[in-house]
Amino acid sequence: MIKNIKTLSSFLCVLIFTSSYVFAEPKQAAIASAHPLATQAGIDILRQGGNAFDAAAAITASLAVVEPYSSGLGGGAFWLVHRSSDKKQTMIDGREKAPMRSTHDMYLDKAGNVVKGLSLNGPMAAGIPGVPAGIEHLVKNYGRLSLKQVLAPAIKQAQEGFAVTERYQKLMGYRKEVIKQYPDAAQIFLNKYDVPAIGALIVQKDLANTLITLANNGRKGFYQGPVAKQLVSSVRENGGIWEPGDLEKYQIIEREPIVVNYNGIKVTSASPPSSGGIVMGQALNILEQFNLEKLDSITRKHIVIEAMRRSYRDRAAYLGDPDFIDIPVDRLLDKNYAGGLALTINSERATPSSELSNIATIDQIGTDTTHFSVVDPEGNRVSATLSINLPFGSGFVAKGTGVLLNNEMDDFSVKPLTANAYGLVGDHANAIAPGKRPLSSMTPTFLETDDRIAVLGTPGGSRIISMVLLGVLDFAEGNAPKSWVSLPRYHHQYLPDQVQYEQGGLSDLEQTALKDKGHVLKEKNRRYGNMQAIMIWKKKDLFFAASDPRGEGSAEVFYYP
Ligand code: GLY
Repeated sequence: MIKNIKTLSSFLCVLIFTSSYVFAEPKQAAIASAHPLATQAGIDILRQGGNAFDAAAAITASLAVVEPYSSGLGGGAFWLVHRSSDKKQTMIDGREKAPMRSTHDMYLDKAGNVVKGLSLNGPMAAGIPGVPAGIEHLVKNYGRLSLKQVLAPAIKQAQEGFAVTERYQKLMGYRKEVIKQYPDAAQIFLNKYDVPAIGALIVQKDLANTLITLANNGRKGFYQGPVAKQLVSSVRENGGIWEPGDLEKYQIIEREPIVVNYNGIKVTSASPPSSGGIVMGQALNILEQFNLEKLDSITRKHIVIEAMRRSYRDRAAYLGDPDFIDIPVDRLLDKNYAGGLALTINSERATPSSELSNIATIDQIGTDTTHFSVVDPEGNRVSATLSINLPFGSGFVAKGTGVLLNNEMDDFSVKPLTANAYGLVGDHANAIAPGKRPLSSMTPTFLETDDRIAVLGTPGGSRIISMVLLGVLDFAEGNAPKSWVSLPRYHHQYLPDQVQYEQGGLSDLEQTALKDKGHVLKEKNRRYGNMQAIMIWKKKDLFFAASDPRGEGSAEVFYYP
């Protein structure tokens, strides 16, 4: 829903200074998140005098409580940050890390085959979480309020409970059988081992206590002391390989974001260990070679699909954790390199992916992850994508902590050239190593022109990058956030060699024409993505916010004294 509530009453805010009345210009802010309670947590923090970074920390913690299927204290995130006072832009990397006892072949049997489910279910699937450290980092380095203030809304939500929705039920449907195996998770998220009814309250007392410990002691409250001890012993009792040092050594890293220019739009996005910024930037560089707006819809979609195919191919070949491998970032984002790739696109025929390389793969499942965007009255902004990977992560809750652990280890290439849960393939660049961060597709993004600023992102596994790409192209056409978040979606990720599209993503005519060009089409049986976006129209100082109609989120533009 789009809202721009510049109402008359907003302008009538009166501030009292000593004995005189002063009409103060009300402050304008915007938040879009995947859950109304998380949006409300951010609003409350801004109203208490916090800035966008405090609000981002509060929204992160709230989503960890009310969207347990998407993100959490047991997961990871990338927070893309813009600080208005000095124009600093940075990416706070809170991605999970492989435990130190991880090995290259830890998910393979003696014959070298992938052990089904081992990188997806239970504590063996979990990387060392980064979200608690990220929350502290945001507040300590960029915020204005205390960690206690910022975590208060999430603590209350965990103590009082949140109501089960249709989305909760649907995502639990995918993961119920795994969660049933772990009593601590089942007790919190199921009702007598079944999916709870709509409206049932999910109360998380243990998680509230873990959040209180984090609020009181900062990151030490999670990565050291009783919570850390409990996390490690519970993981190990259930077959996992975490060690106390894994948690203690976890570090947030600030990384320079990826910046590309697309037809005069400054695009700032996630850098490795996310593939998002590079893959999207490369696709945009390829697309810049074409006059997309002049093309008919069929040719345009064909060209966009071919650009996706080529940039996702390079993802598989080159991308991984930059602390472990050398990534040829400059070459991958070189306009001449993109020009060369553009020349290989035949406007009449699909290029089989096998002509680019020859890797086999499987289909992808599920939806996961979450995103929020926030802008405060000073122009500080955060675009954050957070994840525990598949819905409800690994399905495992560490006893007594309420912390649902991620299954982000599956984002590694667990076996070279073998597809992960999203059908993505990788090679040595994204192989498992102790302490390494798995390659992500999360694409928190800022866009800027002379007259507009945008903050956007979405969950959706490997399709995150193509969804944000389509959003950028729509922004380039001059459309508003409501349009970006609602756009019909289509996707190509090099392998499997097929154009995936959601219901309504391609018209009948487009489907026929794309098949005639040699594309293999695969309609997904549902709509996908959950984009949360904000736009500022600088000249008029107007804010717009929109939440994807596919989800249950809320987008608010609001004023306060
Ligand atoms: N777990 C989804 C991603 O990071 O790409």
